[in-house]
Amino acid sequence: MPSSGDLKMNRRELMVGTCTAMAAIPPLGARAEPAPAGTPVMSRVSLNVNGQGRSLEVDTRTTLLDLLREHLQLTGSKKGCDHGQCGACTVIVDGVRINSCLTLALMHEGSAVTTIEGLGTPDNLHPMQAAFVKHDGYQCGYCTPGQIVSAVSVLAEVKAGIPSHVTADITAPVQLSEAEIRERMSGNICRCGAFSIIVVAVTEVAGVQPAVRQG
Ligand code: FES
Ligand code: FES
Repeated sequence: MPSSGDLKMNRRELMVGTCTAMAAIPPLGARAEPAPAGTPVMSRVSLNVNGQGRSLEVDTRTTLLDLLREHLQLTGSKKGCDHGQCGACTVIVDGVRINSCLTLALMHEGSAVTTIEGLGTPDNLHPMQAAFVKHDGYQCGYCTPGQIVSAVSVLAEVKAGIPSHVTADITAPVQLSEAEIRERMSGNICRCGAFSIIVVAVTEVAGVQPAVRQG
């Protein structure tokens, strides 16, 4: 058991040791300062958006959705959940539909991106856009750009013979049924519940594009 004298000695020794160690620390200005947590790291990304080459300097944390909406002012793609759960942000990248809120812009260097703005114009609507308008395939319209972009991709997927979870025979040409449309569009949520009309619109466009219906 140490005596109180021993403890005082130990405390003094501890103080001497601490001061010695502090003297070895370089002055504040000589140390490398870590970057504050919020300081952005910028990087250049170049991609083709709706047929137009775009190159810009962005925070490396920028999602593709934010790049489109905040940097290129292409606000057709919507931010619904920002968690990959609603499909409102759906865009086509190099021929494949993705949720643009779930991917960083820098991951798509050199890619071709198609947004709802790249499908048609108010004076020359894409057939899918026209079908949605014709059948009132929306109510508030917030999910609609993602629905249309996704639906265009669905037709391309079926045309390419890509089966889905409900395809009965994956060795046969894919038939675009209502079940196929509902399954393939299940990643696009409509809080207004316009699903049945959306199916009608997609079915009609598939009907005017016979090549989509194989077999
Ligand atoms: Fe991207 Fe909902 S905003 S999936
Ligand atoms: Fe309102 Fe789909 S039309 S969320």
